[in-house]
Amino acid sequence: MVGAISRATKLLELLAAKSISIYKIASVYYKSLVKEEVSLASIKSTDKVLCIGGGPCPFSGILLHEYTGAYVTIIDNDNLSVRTARELVEKLGYADYIDVIHSDGNDIFPTDYDVIHMALQVSPMDQVFCNMKKRCSFGSKILVRLPKKGLTKFYDINDHSIFINCYKKSVHNWRNVDSTALFVKS
Ligand SMILES: C[S@@+](CC[C@H](N)C(=O)[O-])C[C@H]1O[C@@H](n2cnc3c(N)ncnc32)[C@H](O)[C@@H]1O
Repeated sequence: MVGAISRATKLLELLAAKSISIYKIASVYYKSLVKEEVSLASIKSTDKVLCIGGGPCPFSGILLHEYTGAYVTIIDNDNLSVRTARELVEKLGYADYIDVIHSDGNDIFPTDYDVIHMALQVSPMDQVFCNMKKRCSFGSKILVRLPKKGLTKFYDINDHSIFINCYKKSVHNWRNVDSTALFVKS
């Protein structure tokens, strides 16, 4: 069960990344979600943002840049996703502001980032989150998307309790995302 939604999302994203018109239509789905996250974490143009799990069509990373002007680094542990996302970023003219790198969230030492954004499909979510929290700099913000209650079995989260004590939370009116939790390293 775990991974079924992630695999389906990836397939749809591969299609969207190949056509700017499909990308533009599909990105509407992410716009209000990302706007709420920008305001939750008060992201500004001088922030350096790391997105973990960008997928072939990194809507969230692209919109985070478009809404704030911030430099964004997107990582994904899947080679095809990275290649496809890089082509899209170049086609959109954002190559100077958005980097796409092949890496796993568990291997990253995110000391240079002010904001870390974690996609719903990051796997294993709790492990990557704990590593980010341990390794990021003081004052860094971590945004974690959490699934709706009935959908948790489709995502790789073993221990939900670690997400309870967040600093702030934004609850969404979304199909599969219940909320985005904000953590600040102190
Ligand atoms: C399909 S995308 C969805 C994100 C969506 N495109 C967005 O912009 O919010 C999720 C991606 O997370 C990647 N992923 C999952 N676990 C990861 C990890 N531990 N480190 C890096 N990438 C990961 C998957 O390879 C997949 O491409």
